[in-house]
Amino acid sequence: MSRTITIRAMKYNPNSKISKPHFAEYKLEETDGMTLFIALTKIRETLDADLSFDFVCRAGICGSCGMMVNGTPKLACRTLTKDFPDGVIQLMPLPAFKLLKDLSVDTGNWMNEMSKRVESWIHTNHQPDISKLEAPMEPKLADETFELDRCIECGICVAACGTKLMRPNFIGAVGLNRVARFAMDPHDNRTDEDFYELVGDDDGIFGCMSLLACEDNCPKHLPLQSKIAYMRRKLAALR
Ligand code: SF4
Ligand code: FES
Repeated sequence: MSRTITIRAMKYNPNSKISKPHFAEYKLEETDGMTLFIALTKIRETLDADLSFDFVCRAGICGSCGMMVNGTPKLACRTLTKDFPDGVIQLMPLPAFKLLKDLSVDTGNWMNEMSKRVESWIHTNHQPDISKLEAPMEPKLADETFELDRCIECGICVAACGTKLMRPNFIGAVGLNRVARFAMDPHDNRTDEDFYELVGDDDGIFGCMSLLACEDNCPKHLPLQSKIAYMRRKLAALR
């Protein structure tokens, strides 16, 4: 049986002199299989054309639609309204990122800075010879590396992280996962000392308090804590 749900969305435009943070309340009829993406689109089409939020793929792939849903960071396109029994859903923008407007935050520039900070590319002096077959990689190691590459840079692990909220320069699980990915890759010639230079401090691998919220909330179920522990064990020996 269909029911009426209530969505309370934070509205605020930091670029407007007259805008003040407040919650706007919307009531709408729930439909079968309704996600927060569908609900928010309906609100924008029929109730409030001014409400801002981010979506691209609607399928948990692009990482654009992270937001706080009743206090927990989630992908809105993968969150069903039926999972909220009282039918009241409060939405806020992800913390730790620059607020653009309402539910829209700038994760893109943050991720770009993070990628540059951890030098998120293969470092090698090897000159590839395209006339030869690529050197094979051990399948188990390839699987483990590809597993970490499934990160969609949604920022949910960053928004969920207590350390990040206390220490603004903390690189977050997404950054440490990236470091672990290259540290495991035999194509990357960086040494442990090189990785220590990048993340061997309290804004990096030694800042994590192991609260586990990154892994608990990651929509891709990446093994974030075990990779942070892996890097911490490697780099602790250099302290
Ligand atoms: S590690 Fe998980 S939660 Fe963090 S950005 Fe990647 S996919 Fe999102
Ligand atoms: S819209 Fe792409 S992950 Fe939600």
